[in-house]
Amino acid sequence: AARVDYPANRLANIKDLKVNEPMQVNYPDIDSPGVLIKLGAPVDGGAGPDRDIVAYSTMCPHKGYPLSYNAADKTLNCPGHFSRFDCEKEGQQIWGHATQNLPMFRLTVDGAGDIHAVGVDELIYGRTRNVL
Ligand code: FES
Repeated sequence: AARVDYPANRLANIKDLKVNEPMQVNYPDIDSPGVLIKLGAPVDGGAGPDRDIVAYSTMCPHKGYPLSYNAADKTLNCPGHFSRFDCEKEGQQIWGHATQNLPMFRLTVDGAGDIHAVGVDELIYGRTRNVL
């Protein structure tokens, strides 16, 4: 995956999150919407003491439609052409037209429980390079 580091940005505190309830965020800038999710079970790429906090772009990599979260199977789903992405598998595409996995915002959690985004894996939709 094409990992890019951006300036770190505080997204939330662990205390702000409820299990399996996505929180809207923007990273690395206001034009890039995403969700922050505490999945409730450890996953690859998960941050925090429980290794279960993840964040993803919610712009579909196919044509940029806004993705919505399905709490039942922990996927992000596209209303445009029905691509589906697995939030427990680092944004792996399960089905659909997109030609890449979903961009994942890389996170760190500090001693105070503040969650910071520090980079992005994969190219955010509409950008020719992952730069600000
Ligand atoms: Fe999401 Fe086409 S825009 S599948």
